[in-house]
Amino acid sequence: MSASTSTTISVDEAGSVLTIIRPGHATLQAHAMWLRDRCDCADCRRSTTNERLLDQAALDPKTVIREASVTDAHDLTLVFSDGHHWTAGVGELVGQMEPESDGPMSGRTRWPIGSFATFERSDLRDDASVLAMLERFTADGAVVVTGVEPSESGLRDTAGLIGQIQMTNYGPTWSFEASVDPVSEVESMHMLRMHTDLPYREQPAGVQLNLAISVSSEGGASTFVDGYSMAEMLREENERAWELLTSVHFDYPYLRSKVRLSGGGPLVGLDNAGRYAIVRRAPDLVGAPRVAAKDTADLYAAVRRWGEIVDDPANQIHVGLRPGELVIFDNHRLLHGRTAFTLQPGERRHLMGCYLEMDELRNTIALLRAASAGDTR
Ligand SMILES: [Fe+2]
Repeated sequence: MSASTSTTISVDEAGSVLTIIRPGHATLQAHAMWLRDRCDCADCRRSTTNERLLDQAALDPKTVIREASVTDAHDLTLVFSDGHHWTAGVGELVGQMEPESDGPMSGRTRWPIGSFATFERSDLRDDASVLAMLERFTADGAVVVTGVEPSESGLRDTAGLIGQIQMTNYGPTWSFEASVDPVSEVESMHMLRMHTDLPYREQPAGVQLNLAISVSSEGGASTFVDGYSMAEMLREENERAWELLTSVHFDYPYLRSKVRLSGGGPLVGLDNAGRYAIVRRAPDLVGAPRVAAKDTADLYAAVRRWGEIVDDPANQIHVGLRPGELVIFDNHRLLHGRTAFTLQPGERRHLMGCYLEMDELRNTIALLRAASAGDTR
């Protein structure tokens, strides 16, 4: 059977396995049960909500494909052993059958990228502009928005383009002002080392917004480095170091008044498909690794080299935010810091920020894409 002159589709003699062969691509195969399970006809899925009407656990383990045919319009119709018919577009089915992993970077732009794309807040009034900004964020790891009202309401207004603000141990929003008598490093005038926020949570917030309210005339640039691109650099340099950083769990105890958090994970976390998923780095908070004695020396060497790479200014982007300028960045992917600064008499350095779950951003992108494709379900 042939879907076109270039794609061939066949079923094995037992009716168990469908094979799709496309020149220049890996051969795709799917089992009859998996194909029966995917059926999205009105008998198997509620069209309005996509809820199941076919119970996955009730699938007949003896399910086979009785017939398969392809139309000129590249629709594949399968008839299963339970008598059920399912018609699916071949292109759509290929998309569902392709392996989940498309490499560790998974379509994200590998740094160096020079600088972040900048969007003017007053231009982000329509769906297409917001979608363009969010897609750029997904590719590069960060975008800058200018022309934001330098206040909490300006911060909330821009966050609202993405989704719901996430409550954390800092509250719904945070506000840090430099102080001559700082309680923490972030309130000092010192350089802040490259770090990710909230590494001590089981699932740190994925999206962070930092808005400049007022800034120093000297120093105090925000610094960023792409943990995913840097991990690729390390992998190419030393595969063993990369394997240890992506597999060994580090505890992250966080003890403050009324806060006892103890999440953690590998310094460079991968998802089940082998894609970069989350970088955790906070040199002042990190706890002990759970590592076998035989791997310990190699692990500490890997940690040292990882630090050299991410702390190297040559790998970083420096952004001198002015009041009303805001950077939105991926806290699962980018590490961020700050250069040292000094305040002249009468100057203040005041930043506000907030977090959102990555699900909020992905949900908004999916809704905007569906709307632009005419799917308003
Ligand atoms: Fe931070």
